[in-house]
Amino acid sequence: NNTISGSICWESPSNIALVKYWGKKGNQLPCNPSISMSLKNSITRTKLDYEPKKAGDQLSFLFEGKRETSFEKRIVKWFDSLAKEFDFLSGFTFSIYSENTFPHSTGIASSASAMSSLALCLCSLEEVVRGVSLNESEFFQKASRIARLGSGSASRSVYGGFAAWGESKVLSKSSDEFAVSFSDHVNPIFQDFQDAILLVSSEKKEVSSTVGHQLMENHPYAKARFAQANDNFEKTLGILKSGDLNAFIEILENEALSLHGLMMNSTPSFTLMKPNTLELIDRIRAFRKTHNVPLGFTLDAGPNIHLLFPKSDKKKVLPFIESELVPFLENGKYILDEAGSGPQKI
Ligand code: PMV
Repeated sequence: NNTISGSICWESPSNIALVKYWGKKGNQLPCNPSISMSLKNSITRTKLDYEPKKAGDQLSFLFEGKRETSFEKRIVKWFDSLAKEFDFLSGFTFSIYSENTFPHSTGIASSASAMSSLALCLCSLEEVVRGVSLNESEFFQKASRIARLGSGSASRSVYGGFAAWGESKVLSKSSDEFAVSFSDHVNPIFQDFQDAILLVSSEKKEVSSTVGHQLMENHPYAKARFAQANDNFEKTLGILKSGDLNAFIEILENEALSLHGLMMNSTPSFTLMKPNTLELIDRIRAFRKTHNVPLGFTLDAGPNIHLLFPKSDKKKVLPFIESELVPFLENGKYILDEAGSGPQKI
């Protein structure tokens, strides 16, 4: 009988996809490989308290002190799906406390950082329960696979720097089951790359990513999209090594606008960009041309812009953001983030 109780805490970052995952198959497997950069300041801290289960006990999930029942249901379903591999889960009652280091309603995707930090807690708990300890690469690979089952993009958040998820012939260790890190091969220019998250609107997303992925199932352009993503994936791997910033920006923006194009011509159709999103895109492109600064944008499935640029250009880009972009942001708000070093056990 289970008599173990205790507490485990992990911090894990949000990530921004450079090559997008959009469309899934089977058991939460991606239709194409994706690449992301993990952030430094946009972090979720999750504490998992566990104690022997008594009759009637139920899992509870608190986000910044408040019970969050819809996320709680998602976690219960996710834990149920892990019951075979983590057979010890049924012996515990869990209380989960989660908080973000980034401000509320900023439109920063938090499911990746939330699910990856919790997946890391579960993998640490497994080591406690079974009295074993995996080597570092096995541990994070497992955490990535578990995180993937909670939220696809979370698979990439268990690593710092740059990560790839999804099978590809051009990256031998890549897999649909889990993400892999390839930060060792990344050009120094990208190691401290900046990401200014420009908040256009903090309204709740009009389309959940679950619905978004489903839109690809019968999408007339699905085949072409998956071919394009594979091509962009291969090129981005090369660019991250070579440091070719012009090529980087071309693919970065192509990926973001392809994602939004696919949503616009899906049935049903969604336009997730706002007028100010387009205004910002115009201004970013004009500034790049006139000032010859290598800055580029990307978007997730929402209206906010991630403006990416080398740290060495920060002195030029920040005044541009302040004077030309801030007037188009919700409450003038943006968050300055950058490539980060990945999760940490607390
Ligand atoms: O992990 P999900 O199911 O929330 O999907 C994420 C989808 C995008 O953020 C739009 C792209 C990506 O690769 O992160």
